[in-house]
Amino acid sequence: MEKILTGLQPTGVITLGNYIGAIKQMIKYQDMYESYIFIADMHSITIPQDPIELSKNIKSLLALYLACGIDPKKNKIFLQSENEYHANISWILECNTYYGELSRMTQFKDKSKKNANFTSGLLTYPVLMAADILAYDVDYVAVGVDQKQHVELARDIAERFNKKFGNTFKMPNPLMTKEGTKIMDLVDPTKKMSKSSENQKGVIRLLDDPEIIRKKIMGATTDSDMKICFDVENKPGISNLINIYASLTGKTIKEVEEIFKDKKYGELKSCVADVVIQELSVIQKRYYEIINSGELNKILDDGINFTRNISKNKFELMKNKMGLHR
Ligand code: TYM
Repeated sequence: MEKILTGLQPTGVITLGNYIGAIKQMIKYQDMYESYIFIADMHSITIPQDPIELSKNIKSLLALYLACGIDPKKNKIFLQSENEYHANISWILECNTYYGELSRMTQFKDKSKKNANFTSGLLTYPVLMAADILAYDVDYVAVGVDQKQHVELARDIAERFNKKFGNTFKMPNPLMTKEGTKIMDLVDPTKKMSKSSENQKGVIRLLDDPEIIRKKIMGATTDSDMKICFDVENKPGISNLINIYASLTGKTIKEVEEIFKDKKYGELKSCVADVVIQELSVIQKRYYEIINSGELNKILDDGINFTRNISKNKFELMKNKMGLHR
């Protein structure tokens, strides 16, 4: 059976972008592939985190995975920092990755520009991500388009290692939705919807109140053209709303354009708000049932027991190939 993997950072409540870009895909594929989904807490410390908040966010993200429909019977769910082999594998991969490659990553360039006093972890972040992926010989990595470059780097690193030391890793492929790979900020639809955005009016979080969600969507930036059609370059706001609607209803962009072609912007916004609220209300109800239930620890225990062995074997194989043994 082919394998699929993804991870999300536990830095605050995840956004509609995270949900559509990564989680919804995992739900779609959990019946088809052997599925791995983890909490990327080691990635989150590449920028400073408050320890109490971080541990709360870890638990909350796990509850959100389940509330969204990630089935613990169909997925290996685990906490990255509990599996020491990810960091071990990452170190070996770092020694097979060039500084130039890492300094050219778009996300590194953006984030290091924002804060000149960045850690070396911010630079080596994509290698840890490569370790997460390559440890399990996965066929697919479910990501939004902003992470595609990192998956491509993982492929480059794997290919180089295989050539140098003999076949060790499987080549992973990024798996992205056609319609919803990049959900944009509602206030500034030229940039991606991001947890760390300064203006929270542009960001829908999975646990936002329905009235707040409606307010944010009704206030979304559009244009003065009054025509509802998908044109990312000239109509980024309208295209983003069409994209959200299509992603949540399972319709194609063409079908959504057809539904709204004679409608006003206000009607489109109102319908988008309806589908978002409908989908998120179900998730929120389940979330509040799950968050204080005792099942969370057991799920992570099962996940780590399963995944640690696989990644340990991969680490041992890498060490052997490189001569790291007596
Ligand atoms: P993170 O936590 O930034 O985002 C989690 C997932 O959500 C996707 N995403 C989006 N998709 C569509 N529209 C958006 N506006 C949007 N914002 C975020 C991201 O592409 C991602 O798939 N480095 C990763 C976590 C990670 C990982 C991995 C992922 C660590 N190791 C191994 C896959 C495989 C990250 O920071 O994602």
